[in-house]
Amino acid sequence: MTTHRIALIPGDGIGTEVLPPACAVLDAMGKRHGFRLEYQQFDWSCERYAATGSMMPADGLSQLAQFDSILLGAVGYPGVADDVSLWGLLIPIRRGFDQYINLRPIRVFEGVPGPLREAEGTDIVIVRENVEGEYSEIGGRMGRGTPEEMAIQQSVFTRRGITRVVDYALDVAEERGKNLCSATKSNGIIHTMPFWDEVVAQRCEERPAITWGSEHIDALAAKLVLNPRRYDVIVASNLFGDILSDLAAGVAGSIGIAPAGNINPEREHPSMFEPVHGSAPDIAGEGIANPLGAIWAAAMMLEHLGHDEAADQVVEGIGRLLATSPVRTPDLGGSASTQEVTRALLEIL
Ligand code: NAI
Ligand code: MG
Repeated sequence: MTTHRIALIPGDGIGTEVLPPACAVLDAMGKRHGFRLEYQQFDWSCERYAATGSMMPADGLSQLAQFDSILLGAVGYPGVADDVSLWGLLIPIRRGFDQYINLRPIRVFEGVPGPLREAEGTDIVIVRENVEGEYSEIGGRMGRGTPEEMAIQQSVFTRRGITRVVDYALDVAEERGKNLCSATKSNGIIHTMPFWDEVVAQRCEERPAITWGSEHIDALAAKLVLNPRRYDVIVASNLFGDILSDLAAGVAGSIGIAPAGNINPEREHPSMFEPVHGSAPDIAGEGIANPLGAIWAAAMMLEHLGHDEAADQVVEGIGRLLATSPVRTPDLGGSASTQEVTRALLEIL
């Protein structure tokens, strides 16, 4: 029997509450489809930072390197600055393991009341560049506290970085058989974004089977709200993709459902899957966190590990649960607990 070794990083707050449901679903699918998952849990978190001064041990990445995949809950803890958890854990893993694709599927499921009338049937995949772009360490601040104070933050765009994210997005678009939209802002950002546009156009010209277009991020944001069903696959830089994917998750009605994959397509390193939401300190400990985002993230992991059928069944199960069952957590207007939702989904599966 195939065995996959999975590193679990529950993190903080509800991160620790949504990973056990994800593992329960993974185990159930393993039983049905004839594979096994072997977990090892790591206590890397903001809580660990508060106690020891670091989010993870110095050899954290080499510990993770031996696993087939990583499943992350969420990190964030009152009293620990958010840039500590981001730059102390998430970004080192994403960059150290060259997880240059951030994949964010967004669906408006039947039975989930969203903020928009026109959103039903929305089914989008956002392919976000995950290791370069606007999130860089290059820059600095001068004259702190003086009237002349200034800050400079450099963006880093490389031909290799743009090429590989666009190629990946084109593959996703080809599989889904529709079209690709590239997010740009080459009218305002006059060096990096025209370069992005050029490389995108070059790659797209080689794939005539896919229709594609380019839209300025500001107009794209508005159109994503006004007519979300128009979009299929969107490729975007690190910052634009970050903002767009949260916007799209909002359009879909709940942050508790949305998943993300941090993917190293070459499989030289483990990829990492996580729900989009954070540690939700406001509801942590109450046992009412929506587990569906973590479960969908686990399904993305199954697909990455080669179990496409099992992955599809999990996502279909989530859709069926939302469409037919009153068992849902308070964020979706229900009164069920995390465990009750998990049990209801397992029954459907
Ligand atoms: P959040 O996603 O933790 O919470 C936002 C709101 O959505 C809260 O009202 C929360 O109760 C609700 N919510 C989120 N997930 C839910 C779920 N599964 N079920 C039910 N309700 C849910 O974002 P927030 O409040 O901005 O950040 C809290 C902490 O999480 C911060 O420390 C932040 O840095 C961290 N964070 C970590 C992320 C990660 O680990 N990848 C991502 C986003 C935030
Ligand atoms: Mg974000």
